[in-house]
Amino acid sequence: MNNHWTPSSWQKKIVTQQPVYPDSQNLEETLRRLAKLPPLVTSWEIENLKGQLAEAAAGNAFLIQAGDCSESLEDCETDAIVRNLKVLIQMSFVLIFGSMKKVIRVGRIAGQYAKPRSAQTETRDGVTLPVYRGDIVNRSGFNEADRRPDPELLLRGYERAALTLNFIRGLIGGGFADLHHPENWDLDFASESPRSKQYHRMVNSINESMRFMEAVLGSTLRESQAVDIFTSHEGLHLSYEQAQTRHVPRREGWYNLNTHFPWIGFRTRAIDGAHVEYFRGIVNPVGIKVGPGMEAEELIRLVETLNPENEKGKITLIHRFGADQIANLLEPLIAGIKDSELNVLWTCDPMHGNTYSTNTGIKTRSFDQIISELKQAFKIHGANDSILGGVHLEMTGDNVTECVGGAGKLAEPDLHRAYKSTVDPRLNYDQAIELAFTIAEHMKSSDD
Ligand code: PEP
Ligand code: CO
Repeated sequence: MNNHWTPSSWQKKIVTQQPVYPDSQNLEETLRRLAKLPPLVTSWEIENLKGQLAEAAAGNAFLIQAGDCSESLEDCETDAIVRNLKVLIQMSFVLIFGSMKKVIRVGRIAGQYAKPRSAQTETRDGVTLPVYRGDIVNRSGFNEADRRPDPELLLRGYERAALTLNFIRGLIGGGFADLHHPENWDLDFASESPRSKQYHRMVNSINESMRFMEAVLGSTLRESQAVDIFTSHEGLHLSYEQAQTRHVPRREGWYNLNTHFPWIGFRTRAIDGAHVEYFRGIVNPVGIKVGPGMEAEELIRLVETLNPENEKGKITLIHRFGADQIANLLEPLIAGIKDSELNVLWTCDPMHGNTYSTNTGIKTRSFDQIISELKQAFKIHGANDSILGGVHLEMTGDNVTECVGGAGKLAEPDLHRAYKSTVDPRLNYDQAIELAFTIAEHMKSSDD
């Protein structure tokens, strides 16, 4: 491999999953404007997260990375952001309570706008149009105007990401996550949910412990200072990522200041491809989706290419095999990484290997399969002297009906009621909290 890297060296490689813009001059002009805008995140935050991910790899922290499959520009609104933030923080408290470890909260948020697709075009009733590639590229409506890639959407997406992040920073900094205000913590659960009582017991117990600590210390614990939220998205649209790839004063290397934690999607992991070329040059921690068809040798080469110094906290491997395949496919990869003494954080995405279509053609996932993959993941890592240090989920704080199962017993005929995702099915609020309790109980019992 030619080792000379620049933020644009990916352009000399084979690049997949990129839109074809009809007006390339307009695109160039937009990217120049994008590059001039202030960044969304800072190098301090990125370095801080990298340090925390290293802790998770060592078993001293647990990562929850979660959010929409695909954010929409339209859903950039107060209630949706509050709901998504709330469910993420509530899940993290359940996980802390279960594991007694620090929990790192990373949203698929403030930039998760570009989607990889399995085909370039979509045909309906004999009409063929470019496929929908996410709100930063084109629009989901099935007509020519909506499907035309529009550079202006890159700017709209960047601005929405900034608005989202600004509001999150305000909420967190202002005490939204402060446990002195349990009214912020009330569940939106249907009160008959079996997890509701359990959750309230937990919040009361956290409050008591906090008051005890404050009595001992003689001062107030400022919980709000301790809650961090980081952002992540798939680093798919490479011109968009390049526009905010910068040097910062008094630090070495290039930072992607669009997000704290970009990841390489399963479809764009080719070792000699443009995405890996772009990612090998940035300082940010990097996630890699790992799934069926990936041999240990490929994974090792990928990790070595992206992290030649074997820096801790740099690489997170997000495996997504599916409940039926994980038992056969994960172990050889763990062995390969161990034998090569590569420093990685292992996390499990129990969503993307468990997608199926119902007889009526609705894309869904079963809660039981999701839980099954997660439980198997904990078990396989445990049996191989490895650590599962996190989960990666598609979920929302909203009451959608996209995945079947869970305490609410959603069945296939219920799916049409509130199916809002334009891409993959997400866990809804109840299912997300239920899943957090299940993981927490699992971590607690495997500690005994
Ligand atoms: C995703 O995380 O939304 C996604 C497309 O995942 P994967 O790359 O693992 O298929
Ligand atoms: Co998805």
